[in-house]
Amino acid sequence: MIRMADPAARHARVGEAVERAVIEVLRSGRYVGGPVVDTARARLAAAFGWAYGVTTNSGTDALAYALLALGVGPGDEVIVPAVTFFATAGAVARVGATPVVGDVRSDLPLLDASRLPLGPRTRAVIAVHLYGEPCLLPGLPVPVVDDLAQCAGASPSPKNGTVGAVSFYPTKTLGAAGDAGLVLTDSADAARDLLLLTNHGMPEPYLHERVCGSIGSNSRMDAVQAAVLLVHLDDLPARIALRRATALRYDAELPIWVRRLPRHASHALHQYVVRVPNRDAVRSRLAASGVDSALFYPRSLANQPALAGFPHAPTPEADAYCAEALAIPLHECLSHNEVSQVVAAFGSHAP
Ligand SMILES: Cc1ncc(COP(=O)(O)O)c(C=O)c1O
Repeated sequence: MIRMADPAARHARVGEAVERAVIEVLRSGRYVGGPVVDTARARLAAAFGWAYGVTTNSGTDALAYALLALGVGPGDEVIVPAVTFFATAGAVARVGATPVVGDVRSDLPLLDASRLPLGPRTRAVIAVHLYGEPCLLPGLPVPVVDDLAQCAGASPSPKNGTVGAVSFYPTKTLGAAGDAGLVLTDSADAARDLLLLTNHGMPEPYLHERVCGSIGSNSRMDAVQAAVLLVHLDDLPARIALRRATALRYDAELPIWVRRLPRHASHALHQYVVRVPNRDAVRSRLAASGVDSALFYPRSLANQPALAGFPHAPTPEADAYCAEALAIPLHECLSHNEVSQVVAAFGSHAP
C-alpha cells in the first residue's frame, strides 16, 4: 500500500543521526529541559520566523497556551475555520472561551475574511494555514493566532503576527518521535509568560504564580523529542523540495476530472488535496490499486457533536468542500514509480 505518511521510511533518511542524538540525551541524564531543549526552542522559533519559541508537549497544548497568553478566557469568543483538525476549536473550549465557527472560502478551505462572524465578544481569530496554504488575515480588529501545525518548511512562513502554535506530531513534515509542540511569539514578555504557563507558573523552584489568570500546568517538551526534532529540522528543506516535485507531478499528470486546489508559491506541501465527485467510489478505486487516501476533514466543525453546545451559523462552503475533498499520498519518501502509480490509480474517467 502506498501510504499517506511513512514515519518509519522517513526515519531511514536520517536514522543514524537521530539515534546518535537520542543516545547522547540518554547518556546525559537531562531528560526534561536542559541545553538540547533550549537549543530546540531557539532554532525552531527561527525556522518559523519568530523571535521566541516555547516548547510544549503537543500542538494542542501550544494552541491553548497561545490563547491564554493573549488573555483569552471565559466570556470570550474565538473564531475558528470550519475546516481544520478539531484541536483548533478544542483548545478554545479548553481555556473556557467559546469557539465560533466561520465558513471557508469557495476556492480554498481557509477562513473567508469577508464573512467572519465577528461580534462584540470576539477576542481573537485562529488562522489555520491548512495543508500548508497561507491564510493571511490583515486588518482585523482582534489579534490573530497562527495555527502553523501543518506549515513546517513554508518559505516564507506565513505570519499574521501575534502568536503562533506548531504541532510536531510524527506525521507532520517536521515530526517528532511522539507528541511535541511549540508556541511562537515576538514578545519577550509573552515568552516569559508562556514558559511559566507551561511549567506550573514556577519562576523559581516551588514558587507558583498565576500567569495570565491561569495556574498553568506541565506541558514541557522532553529532551529526547527536542534532539529528534533538531536532526529532522536539518532535513526539512530537502523534504519540501521532494514534496514539491511530487505535487508538481500531480498538478500536471492527474486526469482532467480531478479538481486541483489553487496553491500559493509559499505553500508548505503538507498535504495534496483534490476535489472529486463520487468520492467513496474514487477511494475504493485507489484502494484497489494499493493507494491510500484520507479525508481532511470529513465534516465541518459546525457539525461536530462535541461542539453542538456552541452557537454556529451554517457553513455551506465547508459542507460542500468536506463532501468532495480527498487527500492523496504526499511525502518525501515516495518514489517516482509510486507517484506514477497514484496517478494511474485515478483512471482517465470519473467513476
Ligand atoms: C491544524 C491543526 N491544529 C492543531 C493540531 C494539534 O496538534 P497535536 O496533534 O500536536 O496536538 C493539529 C495536528 O494534529 C493540526 O493539524
